[in-house]
Amino acid sequence: MAKITVSIIKADVGGLPGHVLVPEELIKVAEDNLTEKKESGDIIDFRVFNAGDDLDLIMTHRHGVDSEKIHRIAWETFELAAEKAKELKLYGAGQDLLADAFSGNVRGMGPGVAEMEFTERKAEPVLAFLMDKTEPGAFNLPIFKMFADPFNTAGLVIDPSLHSGFVFEIWDIYESKRVFMSTPEEMYDILALIGGKSRFVIKRVFPKEGGKLPADEPVAAISTEKLYLIAGEYVGKDDPVAIVRAQSGLPAVGEVLEAFAFPHLVSGWMRGSHNGPLMPVPFRYSQCTRFDGPPRVIGAGFQLADGKLIGPVDLFDDPAYDYTRQKAVEIADYMRRHGPFEPHRLPSEDMEYTTLPKVMEKLKNRFEDI
Ligand code: F6R
Ligand code: MG
Ligand code: MG
Repeated sequence: MAKITVSIIKADVGGLPGHVLVPEELIKVAEDNLTEKKESGDIIDFRVFNAGDDLDLIMTHRHGVDSEKIHRIAWETFELAAEKAKELKLYGAGQDLLADAFSGNVRGMGPGVAEMEFTERKAEPVLAFLMDKTEPGAFNLPIFKMFADPFNTAGLVIDPSLHSGFVFEIWDIYESKRVFMSTPEEMYDILALIGGKSRFVIKRVFPKEGGKLPADEPVAAISTEKLYLIAGEYVGKDDPVAIVRAQSGLPAVGEVLEAFAFPHLVSGWMRGSHNGPLMPVPFRYSQCTRFDGPPRVIGAGFQLADGKLIGPVDLFDDPAYDYTRQKAVEIADYMRRHGPFEPHRLPSEDMEYTTLPKVMEKLKNRFEDI
């Protein structure tokens, strides 16, 4: 049997109200279009979600990653949703569709993409994580914890099939370069890079050679599009998505989810220019209201059955995450009290809106030597 590909392709094509959420009307447009593609056999299965104001398409198929066919389906779905958004006069209708026409691949055209191709195992748990009001580097900490931190993932210590560690593919998104590094051997060097999460982002994780799983088939993939780097100016958020496989030689579902129990600080809140805690929420709370946030993540759990998606399970709909959410709210409040001061506000080079050049220009003749 050919390998299966899971693709998550997402875009913000309009919000209700402002940047709060994707309304039902748009979800329906996307579901109707993907139902047709499923019936025509182009894709095996799909689910449509919203992470705040982002429309997330999860699709399974056998066309591999970067498939023109699949990317075109996503692009057309976003175009149809954007048309609906314009009709409803939603906010920011079509904002992430940066190109006028599809040209073979959605990468660099605005939407974010996480996809991976692999051999479906006898039982294949696949988890999708969809974030809003944050940046691709927001995944660095939880992905590192899942696959490399023995205080998070007990299996790294006690399961012989995880004990040899994993390989991380890390991208320098400023220089467009990548490096493959191994844990546990290079753990400190990896952290030296990925701790700088606005520049170095984990793109994929692979098993090591000689283990239970093929070393060339990813076990996690993260979207790394940075819209402001693509467009050269701020045009919208780069809210990221990720796919993580679990169990039997990989972190257990609970070890994967445990990595989100700490609401770490990420950037991208309000105007893409503030730091705030990442709050794991159930689907029904996937709407960003307080100061357009705080940044949040939903988790959808599936089993694959020959590419069919069985599920979803709403992974953070669990009182065991109430404490994390409560902590996130406390941190949100603490950060908010800083108002325009760093580190709530991002340093000016990381801000997606800034008046600083204009302020400096206005004051240039008033600055004196000291
Ligand atoms: C968008 C976001 C929001 C906006 C803010 C200002 O995803 O994070 O915080 O940046 O609402 O939006 P505009 O400039 O469109 O009025
Ligand atoms: Mg928006
Ligand atoms: Mg968004």
